[in-house]
Amino acid sequence: MAIEIIGTGRAIPSKRVSNDDLAAKIDTSDEWIRSHTGIGNRHIADEGTACSDLAIEAAKNALAMAAGFSGCCGSGRGCLDDNSREGRDHAAAEAAKTIDMIIVGTATPDFYGCPSTACIVQDKLGATNAGAMDIAAGCTGFIYGLETAAGLLSINGERKRALIIGSEILSRITNWDDRGTCVLFGDGAGAVVIEKTGNEERRGLLRTILCADGSGSDSLVIRRGGSRFPLKTGETMDKPLHIEMNGQEVYNFAVKAVTETIQNLLTAEGIAIDDVKRIIPHQANARIVQSAGRRLKIPMEKFFLNIEEYANTSAASIPIALDELNRNNEIQKGDLIMTIGFGAGLTYGGNIIIW
Ligand code: ACO
Repeated sequence: MAIEIIGTGRAIPSKRVSNDDLAAKIDTSDEWIRSHTGIGNRHIADEGTACSDLAIEAAKNALAMAAGFSGCCGSGRGCLDDNSREGRDHAAAEAAKTIDMIIVGTATPDFYGCPSTACIVQDKLGATNAGAMDIAAGCTGFIYGLETAAGLLSINGERKRALIIGSEILSRITNWDDRGTCVLFGDGAGAVVIEKTGNEERRGLLRTILCADGSGSDSLVIRRGGSRFPLKTGETMDKPLHIEMNGQEVYNFAVKAVTETIQNLLTAEGIAIDDVKRIIPHQANARIVQSAGRRLKIPMEKFFLNIEEYANTSAASIPIALDELNRNNEIQKGDLIMTIGFGAGLTYGGNIIIW
């Protein structure tokens, strides 16, 4: 038995905001943002777009690919004319009925608490045979979701396919007056369809490491609105609920998390770094990846980075990257790849996958 990825998709809002656009509004510069983070642009969702809307678009692209539909570049930026959109939607609707489980990793759900964003996605995709739930593991949400879904398929012979989505509208929980955080984040969604196959070869999801260090929970937090600090009746807010971050602490944690996870995955699987075709890290800050690469003496070319275009899209960043690599044929059948995530919680972890 193997758990294989049979479809990938992404959805990127068309509105592109450059560093210079931000510098026109707050005290920052393209030079500072690029040199401190590697970020050049971010994509921001329209006001009426919620987390589930991006999740559904990415899921349709992944489902259509799983169904053999090839008429879409997957950029989510209007590549489809009406005819091909209809073709994609038809293929996706058919494939949706074959899905047994939907998992959405997100820190920006449509609604806090309930209902889950996954249930909204399940309904709108017509995935009438699927269970659905969200995972709150910050930027590691996709890695946690993939392992959870694989476990659910493995444990029950009747479950064959799952849809795992990372989707975020971080622009809604960004304090646009705080230059220390607002330059970092962007919106987007990525999705994969996995299938349990009878493949006897070493293929698909081979190994996952999931870790947490809740002692760092305060360093990346949306403080208000939960049961700890509820909003009070009649209270006025001068700012929307937003992310607060201790950048230096998160940075130090992230470098350690990336370094340890790569080492632990290699050791556990009994492989060398030369066996790995690409490492797909969470796209939070290019300097985090460079620093981990230097420590482990891994050349930067092995890491895939698209942070220049999308900034940090939290749980969406790894599945967006997977879809880009897949659709650009930069990963081929049989390639061994590694995903590495870290984020709020604090959480971290990674997967080894043979494509
Ligand atoms: N533009 C210009 N100057 C800035 C900006 C900005 N956007 N932001 C901060 N500065 C200034 C500061 O005010 C400070 O000025 P000062 O020296 O006069 O006081 C100076 O730049 C240095 O600030 P630092 O915060 O020390 O900058 P640092 O080099 O640490 O970079 C950063 C900050 C980029 C946030 C870094 O700490 C980082 O990347 N941390 C990790 C963030 C991260 O990955 N978060 C997401 C985790 S995943 C998730 O789940 C969401």
